[in-house]
Amino acid sequence: MSAEVPFLAKLLQSPMLWPAVVLLALLLGLFSWFRRLALSLGSELKREDLSAGVRFDLEQARSTAIATRQACKFFFLTVVFGFLAYAAVEGTPMYGYVMEWLNLSVRWTHVIAGIMWIGASFYFIFLENNLNRTHGLRDELAGNLWAIHGGGFYYVEKYKVAPKVIPANLHWFKYEAYFTWLSGFALLFLVYYADAKAFMIDPTVADISVPAAIAIGVGSLVLGYVIYDVMCRSKLILNQGRFALVGMVIMAVICYALTHLLSGRAAFIHVGAVIGTIMVGNVFFTIIPSQKALVRAAKTGQPLDASLGKKAGQRSLHNNYFTLPVVFIMISNHFPSTFGHSGNWIILMVMIVASAGIKHYWNLLDRGENKPMWLAGSVISLVVMSFVISPSFEDTMDSTIPTSFAEANAVIQARCVQCHSANPTDDQWTTAPNGVMYDTPEQIVAMADKIMTRAVRTRTMPQGNKTGMTDEERTVLKRWILQGAKVD
Ligand code: HEC
Repeated sequence: MSAEVPFLAKLLQSPMLWPAVVLLALLLGLFSWFRRLALSLGSELKREDLSAGVRFDLEQARSTAIATRQACKFFFLTVVFGFLAYAAVEGTPMYGYVMEWLNLSVRWTHVIAGIMWIGASFYFIFLENNLNRTHGLRDELAGNLWAIHGGGFYYVEKYKVAPKVIPANLHWFKYEAYFTWLSGFALLFLVYYADAKAFMIDPTVADISVPAAIAIGVGSLVLGYVIYDVMCRSKLILNQGRFALVGMVIMAVICYALTHLLSGRAAFIHVGAVIGTIMVGNVFFTIIPSQKALVRAAKTGQPLDASLGKKAGQRSLHNNYFTLPVVFIMISNHFPSTFGHSGNWIILMVMIVASAGIKHYWNLLDRGENKPMWLAGSVISLVVMSFVISPSFEDTMDSTIPTSFAEANAVIQARCVQCHSANPTDDQWTTAPNGVMYDTPEQIVAMADKIMTRAVRTRTMPQGNKTGMTDEERTVLKRWILQGAKVD
């Protein structure tokens, strides 16, 4: 599109126009619906004859309606500005630049929300593990803790069940989790789905279409949560060890499947997102509802359903074990030697299990049990893994598998001499490129180092892989050269 096209015309011609209009209409509809709901719940709350339980339910519904209404407003404005910005830069050299800033600012939000969420979660685990549970406690208390931080002294009390009167201003911890997920999903969209051809699909892994890649990505998040939820509702939950074992096997299947369907990088981020989605799902579907039930029971003086607290506790514990793996995976996504390796799904599993193992050591330590084997085992497995996937170890392995000149020569005659020969057969390169020929053993041996660089390490030969060289053939060349490139 040329720069002379007026902006309005450009807006109307944008391929994103209809998706944006539909989304805005939907958000507007939701906004007015939730606004009306909040108002009617508000007037209902003015009635005098409400029982405590009904009043609580109405208050909860009203605050949810208000939060959703605000969220609709926020997303409405985001879509308007996003669409205007998109239309302004679409097809111009500014497009990549604007996407970069969007990426950076959403990533920033995501990291901050994640720090707030995991930080609060670590803080409460610290509180639990460090409460004074014995000295001078009132009957209704489970424990208390004195702390000094910033400019002052703090004093926290934990109740055994609930205070007799629920305070008007009760602080909930939930939006950190929700915003982490929302910003994370937005980031998946910006980085992966908006440019799926480049970032989701690796034809050497699986030659799938863009919609298929996105469907696999989004589907994995939903499926991951559903499988986990079914596991939590089954008898498996009664045995922690067995639960963890089955969970790991299923995780391994997910890692294997995703790394064999998507590009390594996309597979890694989606395994991280599956874990993140399970964690947020736990907050949204189990932990917050059971906290609400706890407050409701306290407000109405009804007995509390103990199983609710137990379920929330289990999910909370799982989230605790997920914290280190999820952060490890998110970071590893920036390090190609992890996701770019041919055994990347095993690397992913080692990272998940070892980082959860470190968390286990840490949890035990907080409870006063020092079991250094957990820490040592986890760290050693990470170190061993990093050694095994290192290029020098691979070279050591490869140089132990005997490979003859005949094998190497067969590869070169099949893939290189079309161009690199005194009589090339290639349609484009009718004389040997750079004068490099592989017609005789002496010519090949003389070029061994360069063959290693171009055909093995950087994979920049054959040119455009015109002759269809396979990974196995590259390995044959590599082994022969590592063993001294000899003609036997
Ligand atoms: C389709 C034609 C084609 C095929 C097939 C091909 N090459 Fe090349 N090769 C070229 C061209 C063109 C150049 C020069 C441009 C460049 O260096 O990238 C080149 C350059 C090279 C060089 C660099 C030479 C120098 O002077 O530094 C090496 C090494 C090389 N090729 C190795 C190989 C090997 C090994 C194979 C087989 C696995 C192979 N090539 C297959 C076209 C081809």
